[in-house]
Amino acid sequence: MRLTDALSTTPGPRDAPGRELPPLSARQAAGVVGDVLLPVVAGGVIVRRPRAMSLLERTGWDRRGVERMRALRALHGSGPLPLTVRARAYAMVLDPGDAERVLAGTPDPFSPATVEKRGSLAQFQPHGVLISGGRERAERRDFVEQVLETPEPLHDLAGPLTGVIREEAAQLLAQGERSGELRWEDFDAAWWRTVRRIVLGDAARDDTTLTAQLGTLRSAANWSLAGPRRKRLRSAFLARVRSYVARAEPGSLAERVAGTPAASGTDRAGQIPHWLFAYDAAGMAAARALALLATHPREGEQARAEALGGTPAAPRELPYLRGCALESVRLWPTTPLILRESTTETSWEGGTVPAGTVFALYTPYLHRADPAGPYADSFAPRQWTEETGRQARANPALVPFSSGPAGCPGENLVLFTVSTLLAALLEGHGYTLASHPGLRPAAPVPATLDHFALRFRVHPVSAD
Ligand code: HEM
Repeated sequence: MRLTDALSTTPGPRDAPGRELPPLSARQAAGVVGDVLLPVVAGGVIVRRPRAMSLLERTGWDRRGVERMRALRALHGSGPLPLTVRARAYAMVLDPGDAERVLAGTPDPFSPATVEKRGSLAQFQPHGVLISGGRERAERRDFVEQVLETPEPLHDLAGPLTGVIREEAAQLLAQGERSGELRWEDFDAAWWRTVRRIVLGDAARDDTTLTAQLGTLRSAANWSLAGPRRKRLRSAFLARVRSYVARAEPGSLAERVAGTPAASGTDRAGQIPHWLFAYDAAGMAAARALALLATHPREGEQARAEALGGTPAAPRELPYLRGCALESVRLWPTTPLILRESTTETSWEGGTVPAGTVFALYTPYLHRADPAGPYADSFAPRQWTEETGRQARANPALVPFSSGPAGCPGENLVLFTVSTLLAALLEGHGYTLASHPGLRPAAPVPATLDHFALRFRVHPVSAD
């Protein structure tokens, strides 16, 4: 791969209009490609590849990416680092303030609808908000926020959804008790049953065909513009999604989609594929959070105490378990590269960056290296709770759900779903992580956790 190119910064004293920021040398750029971009692409940007995840874990490749950025930061300072990859201008964002500027300046001058994302996501969500622009983007975002109730810690549907999550958790646990084990495959199947019920309604509970269709489209999407176009499959998948919206089952998001008015051209049902796709990441986050809790006894006890407090069957905010979910995504970001494409020339310390540059926030670096603050490679759910003044929320480097006008509108719904599931799993059961001996309190949390390989031993525990 060939590399080079340009970048930008904050207005004010750091501005240096007129001169373009110098690109990284070809050698340095090759290092970024090899240690940062390649592992992200190999692992699967839109759907994770099991063999690649295992390789990444075994080789510590992700750790090399963080170290690479750390070394470049020491050499070049905190300004964005320009490089070119296959004639495309990129700029790596290292500074928390710059990250905040880019995310706050979305969609103009930093558009989330990069060519790469449009190429990928159009495979299964041609009208998704993330790859929309202009007025359409604003209208779709508004609709999505209304249905997902973005600012609300507990969605209006939290009552029925708590019932759904707990039912599926109970079934998973019954299976775990019989075999004495909880493996990723079982967890994943239960997770998808839960997600289909939440998003589409109970009628979709066992619609594994829908998830398989989405899986095939996501695999094609992994190749971005180079992937095969699966238009017939996409039509079949979208028709299936629409059929659930037409059914509008009470208590599901599909009901809200059907009943929420929107500007013409929003394609209301067309927003759902992103939700299904993104809920997959939440499943990974939940399983990894369970692995953290199983291997960190102090945090595990605190989580269990929270799970046992209050009325389990009622919707609860569960702040500590939400902190665990956030830590899971901080430590193992499910969006390792957050990309924004500049629509105009931008100015940064030391120079300008031309329009059309892709600004890349490499979250494993921002979440674990110096910008991350004191907790870096440790598991610290408390940094997200009131107890510590939600310290992590004040750090613009920590963006597990992105931030700003294109930040994840599903964050609260995800944190509700994951924390409710974790509470149900922890109430009456203990877990020993059988698969990852490297995950333990005395050691830095590993850079990669191959979720496909997760395996727990499960045992019932009494409430006292
Ligand atoms: C652990 C689970 C999840 C994580 C970590 C996550 C994180 C993110 C991130 C980092 C972005 C920004 C992507 C970008 O700029 O390229 C994003 C966007 C988005 N997320 Fe999530 N997400 C999760 C689950 C969900 C779920 C379950 C939903 C819906 C129910 C959802 C809905 C969306 C939408 C619609 C966008 C696009 C927003 C826009 O363009 O304005 N996400 N999410």
